[in-house]
Amino acid sequence: MRLDVITIFPDYLAPLRLSLIGRAVQDGLVDLRVHDLRMWTTDRHRTVDDTPYGGGPGMLMRPEPWGAAFDDVLGPGDAGTADPPARVVVPTPGGRPFTQAMAAELATEPWLVFACARYEGLDQRVLDEAAGRASLDEVSLGDYVVNGGEVAVLVIVEAVARLFPGVIGNAGSLVEESHADGLLEGPGWTKPSMWRGHAVPDVLLSGDHARIARWRRDQALRRTAARRPDLVARLEPDRLDRQDRSLLAELGWVVDPGGTLSRLADAPPPVAD
Ligand code: ADE
Repeated sequence: MRLDVITIFPDYLAPLRLSLIGRAVQDGLVDLRVHDLRMWTTDRHRTVDDTPYGGGPGMLMRPEPWGAAFDDVLGPGDAGTADPPARVVVPTPGGRPFTQAMAAELATEPWLVFACARYEGLDQRVLDEAAGRASLDEVSLGDYVVNGGEVAVLVIVEAVARLFPGVIGNAGSLVEESHADGLLEGPGWTKPSMWRGHAVPDVLLSGDHARIARWRRDQALRRTAARRPDLVARLEPDRLDRQDRSLLAELGWVVDPGGTLSRLADAPPPVAD
């Protein structure tokens, strides 16, 4: 997988050279190329921003350095090149929310190009230009504003690259983790079995793998119902077994005639966990 990041703060991306993703980069599984946008400026001050037409606070990023950066990074994009098509990702608070499903989808792409905006964002023509030559996704980390796209790229790359075959040693951990199946993962315990008077739940010491798997699923359902009712409402009832449905019913969730899960109006309040 090839990853290009265009930014005015290349050093911000240094953490991508650490830990699991760093090793994947070192091993050549991930071809990471970080570019300084100012390389494509032509004036003495290496200007990348300017005031918005129509007035208003703050500055926007000028289109020319971005256009030159796309020319060099994306290339001509015609059928004569050997490169696979790139997908351009622009982090912005106005984008589609980034989810595990989007991470899984991006992990199937051979080439992602991240464009990091700063200031009040990009001149709209930068986005139009990118959309004209590659597939473009504007992606938001969540309903809050950070100072630039770099921190979002760290998050997105971390979530995407770990799904890439070979990056994580134990692929089983990808199946069981939070959000993999639309549920939050339940709590976990390791050794010692007793610590400062706190015991590990007996079931986990039982060696009964089927019972443990069921208990973990119940914990995941309970936690999701307590912390993220929006995720419970999005579960597909067809993928719930009898025990799932009975536990959810105990928590006040039933499958309504429209085939979706909804919470009974007189259900007990969610139990915090
Ligand atoms: N840039 C600024 N805020 C952002 C957000 N919430 N998500 C992605 N990029 C951003």
